[in-house]
Amino acid sequence: MIAISRNLPLAPLTTLKVGGSAEYFVAVKTKAELLAAIDYAKENQLKVTILGGGSNVLIKDDGLKGLVIQNLITGINEAVHDNDVLVTVGAGEEFDVLVANCVKKGYWGLENLSHIPGLVGATPIQNVGAYGVEVSDLITTVNAYNLATGQKQKFSHKECQFSYRHSFFKTAVGKQLVITKVTYRLSLDGRPKLDYPDLGQYFKDNPKPNLKQIRQAIIAIRSQKFPDWKRVGTAGSFFKNSIITQDHYRNLKSDYPDLPGWSVGQNMTKVPLGYIIDKICNYRGVRVGSVGTYERQALVMVNYGGATALEIEKFAHKIARLVKTKTDIAIEWEVTALP
Ligand code: EPU
Repeated sequence: MIAISRNLPLAPLTTLKVGGSAEYFVAVKTKAELLAAIDYAKENQLKVTILGGGSNVLIKDDGLKGLVIQNLITGINEAVHDNDVLVTVGAGEEFDVLVANCVKKGYWGLENLSHIPGLVGATPIQNVGAYGVEVSDLITTVNAYNLATGQKQKFSHKECQFSYRHSFFKTAVGKQLVITKVTYRLSLDGRPKLDYPDLGQYFKDNPKPNLKQIRQAIIAIRSQKFPDWKRVGTAGSFFKNSIITQDHYRNLKSDYPDLPGWSVGQNMTKVPLGYIIDKICNYRGVRVGSVGTYERQALVMVNYGGATALEIEKFAHKIARLVKTKTDIAIEWEVTALP
């Protein structure tokens, strides 16, 4: 029923286009295939790694031991309740195809998240967000299979423990879960969310754009800031924006008065690391060998072709050192390193 491959190159399955091979590999399109793959791993005592669209991972050059399961579980179900539409989507559906279809059907909620690469199953894991919206604003339920217990599990919004680019699914216990489907609560009578500066600017003469116009705007804005991941190796933002204490922010502001910052939680401020790498470290558009920071967005790392995972890691460490020296901020990767 399932076809297991040996020594399958993984770089083509990632948007960064780096990394070695999977010792064993299988792509699954149904829950039954997923369970068969998990059984195979158990019988053969193989460690399991779950891969989605590969748009937020850095796979090491040695590749992955054990069984890599690419989660391509399909299926979409919609249920309308008054003005809400609960859309339940298989983890392996392409996220941007979902967004495009919801915009077409007049379902509000996901439009600001247009053109994000990757699959639905990854969206709760790192609480995907862009242009003033995070999937945690919309997710009501996540269904998963627990590799450790062999049980099906259903997570409410609260149980997902969402925060900035983080969730329960990123914790040590949460990493045992394979997400099978995600339910988003969308709305038939939503309103545009145009608070993000780039969007507000885009719609300064049209404060009530429709869904299609918002999607078009996001696509236009993103194309100015991100390389085309179908042509260039990239994983979007490579690092997270940093959350620092207000005192730390005030100190930095006295040296760099234009440094933007947003209050988050108690006494904390989120600062845009892209700004810091660009304007404080002077490191936007810098290339070392096959790796570089993107010329139009310093938080984005680019593989210009043929980069190794080691090169990318070294470049990332160099950026981390620069930022630490200039600002005393310890930065965190947004991209997940595998293994
Ligand atoms: N900036 C610079 N120079 C740069 C990059 C940014 O000065 O080279 C400044 C911008 O002018 C702006 C601020 O930094 O004032 C923030 O930049 P931007 O709006 O481009 O967003 P970001 O903080 O770099 C975040 C998300 C993106 C998301 C955008 C839009 C993270 C790690 N990244 O980027 O998400 O698309 O906001 O909402 O939170 C991703 O997670 O992979 C991702 C692409």
